[in-house]
Amino acid sequence: MDIKKNQAGHFYAVGVGPGDPELLTLRAARLIKDADVIFAPQSKKSKNSLALQAIAPLLGDQEVIISQYPMVRDNSKTRERWGLLAEDVSDRCRRGQSVVQVTLGDPLIFATSSYLMEALAEQMPAEKLHVEPGISAFQMTASCFNEALTLQEDRLLLMSATDLQAVEKALGQCETLVLFKAAGDLPGLMALLDKHNLLPHARLVSAGGQGDHEIRVAELSSWPRQDLGYMTTMIVHIGKRSWREDVAC
Ligand SMILES: C[S@@+](CC[C@H](N)C(=O)[O-])C[C@H]1O[C@@H](n2cnc3c(N)ncnc32)[C@H](O)[C@@H]1O
Repeated sequence: MDIKKNQAGHFYAVGVGPGDPELLTLRAARLIKDADVIFAPQSKKSKNSLALQAIAPLLGDQEVIISQYPMVRDNSKTRERWGLLAEDVSDRCRRGQSVVQVTLGDPLIFATSSYLMEALAEQMPAEKLHVEPGISAFQMTASCFNEALTLQEDRLLLMSATDLQAVEKALGQCETLVLFKAAGDLPGLMALLDKHNLLPHARLVSAGGQGDHEIRVAELSSWPRQDLGYMTTMIVHIGKRSWREDVAC
């Protein structure tokens, strides 16, 4: 069975990349074009859905539903909101519609799709639930600087920058650290990196692939700091871990 064509009664969590319509996979584009219904998440704090903007060239007669969600660190509220949405999605699937939820980047990396999938798993058979990968913000950020994320035995650690104590711990646990949500406390984060002499090895991209809004900073130590938005990702190159000769290939 080819799960890549939209099937009636199926749900697809589709990653749409960091926001540039050209950074969508061909398969994501096809699933979006063929969908009966598209759910686009939008944080209550945003004026628009970035995921929806990214797929604007693909919109035709699909029904589009913007699903607002609260940006709160409250597990029960979050799950309650996504549980309600899951009921709507599974009801539409039962009526034979093919439903797509678009999500920025990849649907399995810090993404609201994961809450929806979790709730849907209780309401729909697994064979009707699909995930379509997207280019994640960290891949797009790395590509802006032509610098390898990992080589040989380097460890890559992906995390949110919201807890600076956890960030400090992570500096000793990997060779490359990717920090999502890097602008939450940028002065604090930069001070921490400076303390470890890592500012010259940290790069960031804000609103990558989003036209004139995009900001790239390759050299944080000489950057005249400015406030950046939520869509900011930082990569810190901490060191290199070369092949050890005593380990078999
Ligand atoms: C809720 S997470 C979404 C991550 C997404 N699922 C992915 O795989 O990239 C939001 C975080 O993703 C990163 N992000 C998403 N889009 C971005 C963009 N266009 N430019 C820079 N960072 C972005 C930022 O770190 C932001 O705080």
